[in-house]
Amino acid sequence: MFLVTGAAGYIGSNLALKLLESGEDIVIFDNLSTGHQKIVDKLKTLNLKGKVVDFIKGDLRNLNDIEAVFSKYKIEAVFHFAAFSIVSESAKNPHKYWENNFTGTKNLLDAMKKFGTDKIIFSSTAATYGEPLYTPIDEQHPQKPINSYGNTKLALEFLMDDYSKAYNIKSVRLRYFNVIGADKFQRTGEWHDIETHLVPNILKSINDKNKVFEIYGNTYNTKDGTCVRDYIVIDDLINAHIKALKYLQNGGKTDYFNLGTKEGNTVLEILKTAENITGQKINYTIKEKREGDPAILIADNKKAKEILNWQPEKTLEEGILTAYKWEIANFKKGL
Ligand code: UFG
Repeated sequence: MFLVTGAAGYIGSNLALKLLESGEDIVIFDNLSTGHQKIVDKLKTLNLKGKVVDFIKGDLRNLNDIEAVFSKYKIEAVFHFAAFSIVSESAKNPHKYWENNFTGTKNLLDAMKKFGTDKIIFSSTAATYGEPLYTPIDEQHPQKPINSYGNTKLALEFLMDDYSKAYNIKSVRLRYFNVIGADKFQRTGEWHDIETHLVPNILKSINDKNKVFEIYGNTYNTKDGTCVRDYIVIDDLINAHIKALKYLQNGGKTDYFNLGTKEGNTVLEILKTAENITGQKINYTIKEKREGDPAILIADNKKAKEILNWQPEKTLEEGILTAYKWEIANFKKGL
């Protein structure tokens, strides 16, 4: 039995689907602060090989809530997605981020320790590197976050190192670059009530003729002046989590890996690709640069390839297409 925290959210629900498809039973823990009950309901009603044994609406900030899960179920490993992740919000309200992301995860690790669960796969982020000193960024690149979101995730990486050494709780920290795309059958996808991400914002401007897509700056030192990011398709990202589980089950040591494609695309390139895929013209306007946006973020993914035996396989086009189908499905008839 696996515990998936944050399975009512974008990446957690995609991982939950994958486990259910593989015949694994899961327990979902989510406070629904940014996730959605409808996604949990969908996961519960799908007729897949594995089952959602329980959905616990709980909060990691309450140690009792999470201890109750471990006292009720024997959990082999935890996939931990529950977190706040809006960079700009974290700069304005660090308390919210430290309390939820840091204290919440520390409670989770303490509950694991108390009840003898010794494997965790954790969503870390490229934001732990801060402003890149070189590119592509490998795992040895210095970690100097430039916002509270990145600080909380980096602090948790340190905490997990300490818990690994002292209590033998093994962790794999996956440092995500820019995740895009949705489940290919539109069972789940990206759904943030405050949407800050590039691909959904582009697609929303297609679905809503009153919306003009805003590009945050076109004077960066890149080929067309807009920021370059490494866009990884959700299916590939999820596969890396499954490989990480296998790695720990086979006795792998605590470790951390970048998850990206080693390819970069500018904002304008993404916009053009979205136009090609959807056959729609996208109206856009150039705005001020967004604070804290590095010009270029590209992952060196050699380590994940070598140690996890993982390989990204999906194309940018496939990611944008599934994201588009998801937007259309929700725009027209809801979940
Ligand atoms: N962008 C726009 N317009 C938008 C949204 C984004 O021009 O409406 C641009 C951004 O300026 C940036 C690029 O598109 O250049 C990607 O922006 P996203 O917000 O989609 O993603 P980020 O690169 O800012 O952030 C992602 C994750 C964060 C994580 C970060 C690590 O969403 O959680 O990568 O670098 F911290």
